[in-house]
Amino acid sequence: MSTPPAQPSHRQPLALVTGASQGIGAAVARALHAAGARVVVSARRLGPCESLAEELGEGAHALSLDVTDAVAVAALPARLEAEHGPLDWLVNNAGAATSAPLGKSDEALYQRLMELNFHAARRLAGAFLPGMRERDHGRIVAVASSAGLVGYPYVAAYCASKHALIGYTRAAAAETDKTGVGFGAVCPHYVDTPLLAASIDNLVAKTGKTRDEARAFFADQNPGGRLVAPAEVAAAVVELCQATGRGIVELDGGPARLVD
Ligand SMILES: NC(=O)c1ccc[n+]([C@@H]2O[C@H](COP(=O)([O-])OP(=O)(O)OC[C@H]3O[C@@H](n4cnc5c(N)ncnc54)[C@H](OP(=O)(O)O)[C@@H]3O)[C@@H](O)[C@H]2O)c1
Repeated sequence: MSTPPAQPSHRQPLALVTGASQGIGAAVARALHAAGARVVVSARRLGPCESLAEELGEGAHALSLDVTDAVAVAALPARLEAEHGPLDWLVNNAGAATSAPLGKSDEALYQRLMELNFHAARRLAGAFLPGMRERDHGRIVAVASSAGLVGYPYVAAYCASKHALIGYTRAAAAETDKTGVGFGAVCPHYVDTPLLAASIDNLVAKTGKTRDEARAFFADQNPGGRLVAPAEVAAAVVELCQATGRGIVELDGGPARLVD
């Protein structure tokens, strides 16, 4: 008689976090590990992922992954399953923001941001979905942006890519409704990370504002009047993975809000 496979609830969940070498992704990896998950900490730069995995200790593993490498992504479910078992939670966090006025948003910028912020995330979801469906168990959570919900000036390519990610998440959530597989997304406004530090540098260079003034400018843009902390985004991701499983959560410096 063959032994039935272990039920996911009887073992520590396995999570993959993309773009976890710094910023929000690193905070998500920390929070998922603290919540009891085994975590694969991934990004293109292996060094920072290894440092974080070492800091977290047992159950944390580093992986070098460029999410735009479609061949590596297609091979990933089998690779992870062989090393760690089936994946329970996929967190599509890797992303980038580049600003440019409409007239200077060239073809290459649209292609690059659509590829990284949208196609890579939906390819990863597509790669892990068959296994999750077969087990009727899994969560696919995107770290999108408020730029996936509304439009902002000078970031048309970024907004378009994040709107695509939110559109995909909504459709996938509807299609997997009432199954054990859930799709969700977190949409933060400005978050205090290295990505924002680059925007602060940019504003300083363009306007002559001091760094403190530029930082205060971005904090004031958030409806809550302050920058969102990476740990708040991470807590919303953990909540989606562990409990609610579905929904679009907006974080604007005030209390987290379910918008869908
Ligand atoms: N900061 C904000 O204000 C803010 C607001 C709303 C939404 N977000 C979203 O939150 C996510 C994380 O942002 P963040 O602020 O933490 O940014 P960040 O500090 O710039 O970190 C971006 C992460 O993505 C990784 N990455 C970039 N390209 C990659 C690729 N091709 N393959 C794999 N990993 C890649 C980077 O690691 P490597 O360089 O090592 O690959 C890094 O770990 C992004 O999707 C961003 O759009 C940020």
